[in-house]
Amino acid sequence: MLEQGAYGRLDDDAEAVLWQEFSVPFRFPVAFTRNALAPDNSLLADMLSMREADKRHRLHVVVDEGVAAAWPNLNEQIAAYVATYGNHLELLDAPRVVPGGERIKQSFEHVEAVLDDTHRLRIDRHSYIVAIGGGAMLDAIGLAAATAHRGVRHVRLPTTVLSQNDSGVGVKNAVNLKNVKNFMGSFAPPWAVLNDFNFLDTLEPRDKVSGVSEAVKVALIRDPAFFYRLEQDADALAAFQPAETEYMIRRCAELHMRQIGAAGDPFEMGSARPLDFGHWAAHKLEAMTEHAVRHGEAVAIGIALDSRYSVLSGRLAPGLDERICALMERLGFGLWHDALDKVGASGEPALLTGLREFQEHLGGQLTVTLLSEIGTGVEVHEIDGALMMQAVDWLQTRATS
Ligand SMILES: NC(=O)c1ccc[n+]([C@@H]2O[C@H](COP(=O)([O-])OP(=O)(O)OC[C@H]3O[C@@H](n4cnc5c(N)ncnc54)[C@H](O)[C@@H]3O)[C@@H](O)[C@H]2O)c1
Ligand SMILES: [Zn+2]
Repeated sequence: MLEQGAYGRLDDDAEAVLWQEFSVPFRFPVAFTRNALAPDNSLLADMLSMREADKRHRLHVVVDEGVAAAWPNLNEQIAAYVATYGNHLELLDAPRVVPGGERIKQSFEHVEAVLDDTHRLRIDRHSYIVAIGGGAMLDAIGLAAATAHRGVRHVRLPTTVLSQNDSGVGVKNAVNLKNVKNFMGSFAPPWAVLNDFNFLDTLEPRDKVSGVSEAVKVALIRDPAFFYRLEQDADALAAFQPAETEYMIRRCAELHMRQIGAAGDPFEMGSARPLDFGHWAAHKLEAMTEHAVRHGEAVAIGIALDSRYSVLSGRLAPGLDERICALMERLGFGLWHDALDKVGASGEPALLTGLREFQEHLGGQLTVTLLSEIGTGVEVHEIDGALMMQAVDWLQTRATS
């Protein structure tokens, strides 16, 4: 039995060893709406008052500066909303505006500023930190909320496609320290998540596109019908049509939630990471370009690469790689970046060091998800570097011909 360890004493020596064992159930709502802060929309107030409907709840709001700039009346809206539900809600301070995008994750400074607020405003473990913004700021503010007093209640209002369909509904937070992506972070399920589609209207075109790659990803590893639906809706999605976009976000969020909640490893203790399909190359590409390439854009390239590699290594039927790439191009992704064939100091392609870094970050055995069919991911533990560079060449040829 694995639990015995290599020498067997753990199970045999009842005198020396007491076993501690418990599990903690987590349950949180992920709601989809429009105009979340309109006074007649009680979803947020309900989330903040759930489980203790008879008291007044203290909250501090943190806003992504990209959102603050695009929604100049947000502070007034928040104040008016809290006033409407004043029997149950109390705003502790003016919302704090923090940098949006990867910049917020590149240091500990902004996490610390929110920790300072937590202290100054006497936010306790029954008070709330409400974060409104993109995936990067939610990661940083989530870390502050998870660590202040060992965890204060954290409500997320994700405002990008990627944070609504993937990161915001998940259970992780982090900042990048030591030049390593997501080096410092924790697993900490939120109190509640409220996806307001209206926020998406003010995204830059590239941010509207970028998060769709996470939908392609989860469709490819889990849900063929969703992949065909994405093909069918590709033009509408590229034009950001609301009905198709909302379906894509909701289904993608649901598949991520199902994987986290029902696949048996929400806190990623094992080596398998199906939701990281396409991500080893994506993380490397983001780092190599100092985040000039957005996470979702890098994931699209990572999916293209690992789909081609799946074909080259005999796992996926020839032609399906092209089909996957064609979909992502129709959705608006570019599938080439010059950093992909850069040679590192050791003479090895810099991209391939991303495999080692991916393993180091995750711990355990190298586990990369590939495809055997549309909708079916397979775990592999070895990647042939030369074959992977053939996949890179293929992408370059496609992009330049
Ligand atoms: N925790 C997880 O499980 C997880 C999973 C996937 C990705 N992530 C992380 O998410 C991050 C990427 O997040 P993202 O794709 O949401 O982008 P982002 O957070 O980097 O935001 C992109 C830009 O959009 C701006 N912005 C946000 N909302 C806006 C709005 N409504 N209107 C106008 N501008 C707006 C931001 O200020 C920023 O400049 C990466 O750091 C990635 O590592 C985390
Ligand atoms: Zn991702």
